[in-house]
Amino acid sequence: MKALVLFSTKYGSTAEVAESVATTIRSNGNDVDVYNLKKPFDGTLEGYDLIILGSGIIAGRWIRGARKFLASHHKTLDSKRLALFICGSEPYFEPHRNDELRKRYLEDIATEHGLQPESMAMFGGVFDFSKYGLVVTKLLTKMGVVKVLEDAGFDASKPCDLRDWEEIGIWASGLV
Ligand SMILES: Cc1cc2nc3c(=O)[nH]c(=O)nc-3n(C[C@H](O)[C@H](O)[C@H](O)COP(=O)(O)O)c2cc1C
Repeated sequence: MKALVLFSTKYGSTAEVAESVATTIRSNGNDVDVYNLKKPFDGTLEGYDLIILGSGIIAGRWIRGARKFLASHHKTLDSKRLALFICGSEPYFEPHRNDELRKRYLEDIATEHGLQPESMAMFGGVFDFSKYGLVVTKLLTKMGVVKVLEDAGFDASKPCDLRDWEEIGIWASGLV
């Protein structure tokens, strides 16, 4: 099988998840390419059996490159095996909102583009204040993110990694 993992990231955590998904699928004897949608995808999807698309969630939305990829390629994706994933803090901190978040960040996006992915997953993300400018740091602090992280036992002066690598590995294996 040949797979393509495409992703949009702002701060890098979704890229690491995409690489990990690719490594898992490769380790099962498959051919996997990885593409960062910072640049629009200008290759062909022909020849790929499985397309996996991931995006970080910033301010309640998918990152632009991943949104644009779906808008441009949804017709081709319709005839492919497709899987979607997002990385965000809401699924980690607000598991009671799981159904609502899944609808908002995955199901509605797929439906909007006439797509029926075979699998969709929500993973935790990363907060790393060393990567944010003053405005973003102030905003996140004002929104209570630092307090939520510290209440959950994280040290916000270091990268706070909300990703569950075992969960990510199990999901990727399930796609093979
Ligand atoms: C400015 C900012 C806004 C964010 N907004 C949301 C949000 O609305 N919902 C959410 O679930 N996570 C939110 N997050 C958490 C990110 O989804 C998380 O940091 C993720 O790992 C970002 O992906 P990236 O590292 O690939 O860019 C936000 C993070 C930042 C820095």
